Amino acid sequence: MTAPGTDRAAAVAAAFTDIAERRAGGGYAPVHAAMATACATDPCALDLASRAADGQNPPSLLLGAVQYLLARRDPGHALARFYPTLTGRPAPDPQVDDPWPDLRAFLTRHRDRIAEIVTTRLVQTHEVGRCSYLYPALTAVRRHAGAPLAAIEIGPSAGLTLVPDRYAYSYGDGTTAGAPDSPLLLRSELRGPHRPPLDRGPEIAWRAGIDLNPLNLADAEDRAWLRSLVWPDHPDRAARLDTAFAAARTGELPTLHRGTASQHLPALLEQAPVDAVVCVYHTAVTAHFTSRARAEHRDLLRRLSERRRILWLRAEPVEEPRLRFTDLDGGLARTEVVLGGYHPHGAWLEWHHRG
Ligand SMILES: C[S@@+](CC[C@H](N)C(=O)[O-])C[C@H]1O[C@@H](n2cnc3c(N)ncnc32)[C@H](O)[C@@H]1O
Repeated sequence: MTAPGTDRAAAVAAAFTDIAERRAGGGYAPVHAAMATACATDPCALDLASRAADGQNPPSLLLGAVQYLLARRDPGHALARFYPTLTGRPAPDPQVDDPWPDLRAFLTRHRDRIAEIVTTRLVQTHEVGRCSYLYPALTAVRRHAGAPLAAIEIGPSAGLTLVPDRYAYSYGDGTTAGAPDSPLLLRSELRGPHRPPLDRGPEIAWRAGIDLNPLNLADAEDRAWLRSLVWPDHPDRAARLDTAFAAARTGELPTLHRGTASQHLPALLEQAPVDAVVCVYHTAVTAHFTSRARAEHRDLLRRLSERRRILWLRAEPVEEPRLRFTDLDGGLARTEVVLGGYHPHGAWLEWHHRG
């Protein structure tokens, strides 16, 4: 096995530690955190994860590849007991029954196939729970715009976050919203004294998506990959995704264009209906950009808004903990609106905005 360069190995080890301590830590995903902690110091795990392309999150790809192969190729392996997402049963407490010996054995047994997946797949975690804050956020953008929206999502993965108006919502205090007959009910909690605008919904008149690698929900391999990116501790998220897959079969998903915003956005701005206001939005996408790519993305939107007004909504927790949108008109940041705080997977929303 070739050892990754020292800098690369150190960066990948730090990414595992970040997952273990910040993102999955604090009891949110203890099995995922325990696995990430062990991988951070193991040469085999670091070597495999280091094969991820630049900009990709190596731990997500490595642990996604493991879950994918467990589900598709080796469901009887002893490691499977740590995956409530696969077994439907609670996992052992990783402080008492350490998953590492079984994970290590699994990495060795499936090393070549894991390397192939880490090299060829992208992190495309599709969290439909994010619609719990996208729905009110798009409603607030629509209210600000004073017109129906032409919604263009950057990085929609398989497109489930492009149709938030097709789902039903329950916010825990009797507040409901969305499409009451939807097979997918998304539950979230409203925190704080302010309530988001939910009355008319976002009124999306037209929509399109742009993704580096649009996934196809009719393809069983793509569905399996999306499911494998859900952390093992979260069977409820996996079940929600299964329901969303089934719901997607009942209505057509919007067109997803393969590539980047700079390739497709100019033409889509021309195609969007003239009586709608364009809202470009993204969730959990710019974490996969370099800082230079983030600056280029901002510049692109500012430049394009000289041709047509763009309301730019984003929920990018790695960059900024609050949900916000900017009204870009004529290339100048006219209005910056902070909507509120939110849980990255949509478990709660704390609305701040009173517009
Ligand atoms: C973590 S997923 C998030 C998916 C979806 N937004 C959600 O919240 O469920 C990130 C998505 O962004 C896409 N992506 C990453 N960089 C991109 C870029 N430069 N242009 C377009 N899509 C990109 C990936 O292919 C992936 O589908």
